[in-house]
Amino acid sequence: MKILGNYLLIVGMLLLMFSCKQQSDVKLGFLIPATEGSRWIIDKGFVEKVAAERGIEVLIRSAENDENLQIKQGIELLKEGVDVLIVVPSNANTAAALVRDAHERNVPVVAYDRLIKNCDLDYLVTFDGAIIGELMVEHAVQKVPKGNYVLLFGDAGDVNALWMKTAQEAYLQPYIDRGDINVVYRTFVENWDVNNAYHIMQQVLDFTDQPIDAIVTGYDGLAMGALKAVEEQGKTVKVLTGQDSELNAIHAVVDGRMSLTVYKSIRETAEAAIDLATKLARGEKIEKAKQTMFNGRKEVPMLLLKPVPVTESTIRSTVIADEFFTEEQVYGKR
Ligand code: GAL
Repeated sequence: MKILGNYLLIVGMLLLMFSCKQQSDVKLGFLIPATEGSRWIIDKGFVEKVAAERGIEVLIRSAENDENLQIKQGIELLKEGVDVLIVVPSNANTAAALVRDAHERNVPVVAYDRLIKNCDLDYLVTFDGAIIGELMVEHAVQKVPKGNYVLLFGDAGDVNALWMKTAQEAYLQPYIDRGDINVVYRTFVENWDVNNAYHIMQQVLDFTDQPIDAIVTGYDGLAMGALKAVEEQGKTVKVLTGQDSELNAIHAVVDGRMSLTVYKSIRETAEAAIDLATKLARGEKIEKAKQTMFNGRKEVPMLLLKPVPVTESTIRSTVIADEFFTEEQVYGKR
């Protein structure tokens, strides 16, 4: 009987130790703006994976492009006791309310990929939008030094869109001044939406008799929408750019229907955001940020990651080498 008692005691202690070990000391919240038809579903997967590797608990909500829902979801997560919120804002302005709510509960907020404006945001983890914008126009100008361009920027409310636009316009201006490049049309595209890009491009093609040589877009979804309109009219373009290395864009690059996408390693972003948030949660010392970005209220400390251009000849050495996609996914049967 005594032996059995001891045995049960040891088993009980082992179980207790095991469950303690399983319990994370850090609980993070991750808010994404959408899942359906967007890259954020991949970010979600990586954040889950990286958090599991680190033994960190993470609660995730998607707002499906509804900025009010995102704030509600954020408040829900605060009530559930998250130590830090990591946010991809649906709306860079309204998300400021969430930062204020979080701070009232002493919960720091890390913006993921997109800045949150006019608030005491704690940190921004992102890629250099100026470099991304320049990679696109540099590529375009190399392939089409003289010709007609269409520029489709992202959502006007997203600092990333503005960041790229400013860099691209500065880069193109000398070519425009010399009369080498004619920008037939340039516009922001609401919500970075594929269908909006499609309709805009349809109208551009309907209302101009000039051939379009290059379409520079800030995101693969926009590129896909524009390409659909071009192909429906039986046309092709020499340059079509995007960003994010989404699989359908990579396929279009393989097929020569698109010429460049930009790869922003999602694993790297997820790791950087989770590691930073974990340090904030544990009150550990954080290295002084090398860069900051003014958000209308403060200079937000910023961690900048490096974007990588992807063309037909560099698919293997970039997205496949990084295990973002397998050889089979890229070149296999579709
Ligand atoms: C931006 C992001 C881009 C792209 C776009 C549409 O904020 O920087 O990489 O994902 O949103 O989702």
